[in-house]
Amino acid sequence: MAAVLAMGISVPRHVLPLHELARARNVDPAKYRLGLGCKEMAVVAPGEDTVTLAAEATLSLLQNAPEYEPSKIGLLVVGTESGVDRAKPVAIWVHNLLGLSASCEVFDVKHACFGGTAALRMASLWADANPGRLALVVASDIARYPLNSPGEPTQGAGAVALLLGSCGRGEEVFTLSKRVGMYAAQVDDFWQPAYLKEAVVRGHYSISCYIESLKRSLEDYGEEPGNDPDFLVFHCPFPKMVKKAHAAMLEFLGKSYDVSEDFRRRVEPTLWVNERVGNAYTASVFLSLCGLIEALGGSLIGRTVGVFSYGSGSCAEYAVYTFGNGVKTSLDIKRRLDSREVINATQYERMRAECEALEQNGSYKGNVTNLGRFTFMGIQEHRRVYCGNNLRPE
Ligand code: COA
Repeated sequence: MAAVLAMGISVPRHVLPLHELARARNVDPAKYRLGLGCKEMAVVAPGEDTVTLAAEATLSLLQNAPEYEPSKIGLLVVGTESGVDRAKPVAIWVHNLLGLSASCEVFDVKHACFGGTAALRMASLWADANPGRLALVVASDIARYPLNSPGEPTQGAGAVALLLGSCGRGEEVFTLSKRVGMYAAQVDDFWQPAYLKEAVVRGHYSISCYIESLKRSLEDYGEEPGNDPDFLVFHCPFPKMVKKAHAAMLEFLGKSYDVSEDFRRRVEPTLWVNERVGNAYTASVFLSLCGLIEALGGSLIGRTVGVFSYGSGSCAEYAVYTFGNGVKTSLDIKRRLDSREVINATQYERMRAECEALEQNGSYKGNVTNLGRFTFMGIQEHRRVYCGNNLRPE
């Protein structure tokens, strides 16, 4: 049976503490910290985009797990809603930047924040059908709302890469349940018209669509045979949304638990990364999962997590994953978060404008400071220029 064998994450190198944004927007900081549950917002700088975040997460994965041979990767799927071209997938740049085998199916999957989860389930089926080969899934996104809008403090960015293959050695990070609860419905709660730079969102309506999808997915999943999952991960556009979702879940399932105590025990250990990164759309649910793994490590072996994924528009899934021995490997998340450069609101607005300028044809001047192992240098004759290509794990 196929399983996730290894994971890697990446986050932008700059971070804006939300009390700084609150000051700039003349908002009570308690609204962001307590009302939304957010502490910090990851900010992309010129040179970082959805592709470089995805490539960096993949390279981290391959370096974390040198026992898996990259040449065996026969499927690469990126789940994203912040793709950089309407035809060309993010995945093909990642494929090139990592120097993966040409014998590989490479494409993106899109359904708002649900894309990464859809890619994961598809890759799991592919891995079952192709024993001995590996599938790579990357969820990568930059969440962006208009300046000064209600969504602005929930912005963020990040990527999570997951390697799948047949398992049997007990080294898997987790296996996916075959049983899934699904729900799809056409709603206009959040979308990104091709002619706009930022998302259009009906924020309060999107919260009710999320909760409705959660209930319908649980209904479709049906009664859990045996015990409740040991932990719960929910798609996290902002941590307070998860609190609302957990309470709604207990009520819907008719559980008479103490809501706060159950939240503290089964949900809280999943949220610390999201609090410090912000929304990363497709990657958010996996950042929560990584946070849980980093927080509890080897004590998770043999335990289960119920995972709810929601994408506006809309499609949702509830499934249960079971952890294996692979949870013992550290993803080095805390060090990555602590080593980011702290910026203020003025610097954030300047970086945002510089990123926009780099997205224009002719922006390539060859002078973008190389921020990381992969860098987006700008656009030349309508072609995106990246550097850091063909890196292989050391
Ligand atoms: N101190 C503490 N809490 C405060 C506060 C203060 N000074 N001021 C407001 N709050 C609380 C509110 O009571 C509210 O809490 P509640 O939801 O438990 O009632 C919370 O902060 C948010 O306040 P609200 O006025 O509803 O915020 P908003 O209308 O400015 O924006 C969203 C909130 C979520 C609608 C907005 O951030 C958004 O559009 N986000 C993007 C869409 C999204 O992520 N959708 C999720 C589903 S996919």
